[in-house]
Formats: sequence, C-alpha cells, structure tokens
Amino acid sequence: MQMNTAIRRYFEDHAPVWDARMPAHYDEMLFDFARSFTDEFRAAAAIAEIGTGTGALIPVLKTLAPDSHLISADFAYGMVSQARKRVPDTCLFQADVHDLPLVSKWVDLVICHNSFPHFVDKPRALREIRRVLRPAGKLMILHNNPREVVNAIHQRAGAPIGGDLLPQGDAMHALLTDSGFSAVQVEDSSIRYVARGTRG
Ligand SMILES: C[S@@+](CC[C@H](N)C(=O)[O-])C[C@H]1O[C@@H](n2cnc3c(N)ncnc32)[C@H](O)[C@@H]1O
Repeated sequence: MQMNTAIRRYFEDHAPVWDARMPAHYDEMLFDFARSFTDEFRAAAAIAEIGTGTGALIPVLKTLAPDSHLISADFAYGMVSQARKRVPDTCLFQADVHDLPLVSKWVDLVICHNSFPHFVDKPRALREIRRVLRPAGKLMILHNNPREVVNAIHQRAGAPIGGDLLPQGDAMHALLTDSGFSAVQVEDSSIRYVARGTRG
C-alpha cells in the first residue's frame, strides 16, 4: 500500500487549491449530471459517499435527496477540511475506502464520484464497500466525464496518479461481478461513465 500513501499525499498537497482547478460552473455541471440519478438517490435511506474531495457533490445530493441520511468520507484530511468549509452542516469523516470505519450491512447506497480510479487495491476496496452495504444495497461509480477524458486528465497529471485509470466497460463489469455484485450495469459512453452493482 506504499502507492496509497503517495496518492494520499498528492491529494493532501492539492486540497487547498483543488477547487480553483475545477472548471467554471462545476457546481451546475454536477447538478446537470446527477439529476438523472435522483430516484436512485431518493430510494436510499442512508448514503455513503467515498472520496468526497472538497465535497462538491454534497450540496447536489442534499438537494436531490433531502430525506436521505448522507455521510461523506475522504482519506485526505485536507480534502475533508475543505469539504467542511463548503458544507459545515454535514457528516464528514476521514477514512480510507480499503478499511472503512463503518459497521457492516448499514448503508443503502455507496457513491464514488470521480474517486474509484485512485483506489489502489480495487478488489479490496470493492469488498469493503460490499461489506458496509445492506443486502440489496447499491454501489454507484460515477464520472461526469467519459473514460477517455478521465484517463487523459490522470495521465497528464503524472505520478503518483498517472496510472489511475478507469477500466473499459467489460473489464469494470467483470471486476464488479468478481467482487460479488449482481445486476451490474456499466455505461462507458461518450458523455459519461457510470457503473452500478447490487450487493447480492
Ligand atoms: C479526483 S478527486 C474527486 C473529488 C470529488 N468526489 C469530486 O468529484 O470533486 C478524488 C478524491 O478521492 C479521494 N481518494 C482517493 N483514494 C481514496 C481512498 N483510498 N479512500 C478514500 N478516499 C480516496 C482523494 O483524496 C480525492 O479527494
């Protein structure tokens, strides 16, 4: 997990300037992207967002699913601190997806928005996500950009995140299925990347 430490350091270092690097109108873009998932968000009594960064998706989730109980985590303390400034009234905590400080079978929906490629041990991360999900609970791996754009951004950034790539749709499908998820669907399209699985 040496690479995990390097990646965490990268995000710690970039946390103070993260929002300044986002595209103009990022908040509106996220609303437009997430609106189509509203029913899935609302169906979840408890949502855990992993890799929240500066919390850009939190206001979106709170608006689209106001009755869902939302908790948001990131392994970089700097990111959690920035998210706290953005949404002081939310449940935020510092945690690594590979070892979540959550009881088993509690969460209805886990959302990883723009964070999955950075999980260094994906089978272990998926096992851990599956552990905290209730039976029939859902995982949504969301990217508001297509795979090629996501991967190009990471490759351009270079070490230590240059190799953090989204797999092609069929590889992601196999990864989720092999990790015990059922009803797997992967949209690897020219506008966005969305992978879903259900805890069997
Ligand atoms: C590209 S940022 C995306 C932030 C936010 N979700 C967004 O879309 O604006 C990826 C985030 O995932 C977090 N992250 C990466 N690996 C993680 C891990 N193993 N456990 C928890 N968070 C992680 C990073 O610290 C970073 O804040």
